[in-house]
Amino acid sequence: MHGQWSSRWIYILAATGAAVGLGNIWKFPYLAGEHGGSAFVLVYLVCVAAIGIPMMMAEVMLGRRGRQSPVNTMRTLAKEVGVSSQWQWLGISGTLAGVLILSYYSVIGGWTLAYIVKSAMGTFTGATGEAATNLFAQFVSDPLTLFFWHTLFLVMTMGIVARGVQGGLEQAVRYLMPSLFVLLVVLVGYAMTTGFFTTGLSFLFTPDFSRLSGTSMLAAMGQAFFSLSLGMGTIMIYGSYVPEGTSIAQTSVAIAIADSLVALLAGMAIFPIVFSQGMQPEAGPSLIFETLPVAFGHMPGGLAFGVLFFILLLVAAWTSSISLIEPAVTLCVENFRMTRRTAAIWCGLFTWVLGLGTVFSFNIGVETTLFDMTFFELLDFLTSNLMLPLGGIALAIFSGWLMTPQVSQSELQMQDMTGYQLCKCSFAFWLPLRCSLFS
Ligand code: TRP
Repeated sequence: MHGQWSSRWIYILAATGAAVGLGNIWKFPYLAGEHGGSAFVLVYLVCVAAIGIPMMMAEVMLGRRGRQSPVNTMRTLAKEVGVSSQWQWLGISGTLAGVLILSYYSVIGGWTLAYIVKSAMGTFTGATGEAATNLFAQFVSDPLTLFFWHTLFLVMTMGIVARGVQGGLEQAVRYLMPSLFVLLVVLVGYAMTTGFFTTGLSFLFTPDFSRLSGTSMLAAMGQAFFSLSLGMGTIMIYGSYVPEGTSIAQTSVAIAIADSLVALLAGMAIFPIVFSQGMQPEAGPSLIFETLPVAFGHMPGGLAFGVLFFILLLVAAWTSSISLIEPAVTLCVENFRMTRRTAAIWCGLFTWVLGLGTVFSFNIGVETTLFDMTFFELLDFLTSNLMLPLGGIALAIFSGWLMTPQVSQSELQMQDMTGYQLCKCSFAFWLPLRCSLFS
């Protein structure tokens, strides 16, 4: 039997857990830094509200209607509306995208595990920027170490997934998500004591529109999609566990607000620390793993704060990684008659082997490139830049144009004014919706 969340609140927590990940805490601040701070933040927030929320509503709607894995949901719904069952390929590509993303996400998740241990052992105490950079370079240059942490992270993820919706996912998010919020607020509290809190704030919130280019706007939109976990089936599968009678519009807004809040809080915690140590906000992907250890290594109580921070990042990555593999596991259970446990083991094994490509991308495989990209960069490009946006567009077409007005109306409860107004305000979903609902 297909599972169900035991309450609306648990669903919000779980979907927020899927949305909040390395994307919020590691990628968002770094992108904001590169693309003009507050101008980027503004575009990002507009994209979340105008495109992200309606897209999320569409995905939840499809999931709850189909109540199966994304592949079978798409096939069932395509049959229901009388279009080709080839729409199942949308589910297949999404499921695959999840596995591909998890294969590298797990390696980075492993880094956070390793950095918890490193901070706890006091490795960063008194470290200079150069020392931390060398430490990171040395860390990623050893395939065996990365292999170990990648394996451990994936075992942790699959362990939760194997226990199923109520046994595993719910228990995990019930405790992990609230602690994540608490940890972030504590870190922001610390950032206030650095004396550079206002510098950090003005960096994030003082508009500098001169730095806002087309590329930045695209980056902001892409980040909105990635951060909300859209376009691949994560939200569809989580939506498939949503009880009848839950307002899709209200919960989607709540999830989007929580997700953006975490990204903003992360920025507010990270930048004051970065500035107080005289570091560069444009450090890029290495920002957290190279720069923050220095900050933690110098601040009073830095040992505890360092450990706390990387635990926080681990929690965020963990709950997101669970959501990335869930469509594949459900598909195996449904189509190959496997138990959840067996399905989790097979999917985990496949992802693990694929992840070795990313493990080697940072050391022995760094020279092995295709189109000038390492295996890791190629995977990231293929999923984030191609599969997710195309999946999002296809989902919008299906839910907006192909689904019958009766179905989308009853699922979305369009008589509920909040949802109705939201759709109306959003051109991305509103335009296609209008064609089917009100023509
Ligand atoms: N949103 C997560 C993050 O910010 C990553 C993630 C989880 C994701 N599931 C997804 C991204 C599905 C795209 C699609 O880190």
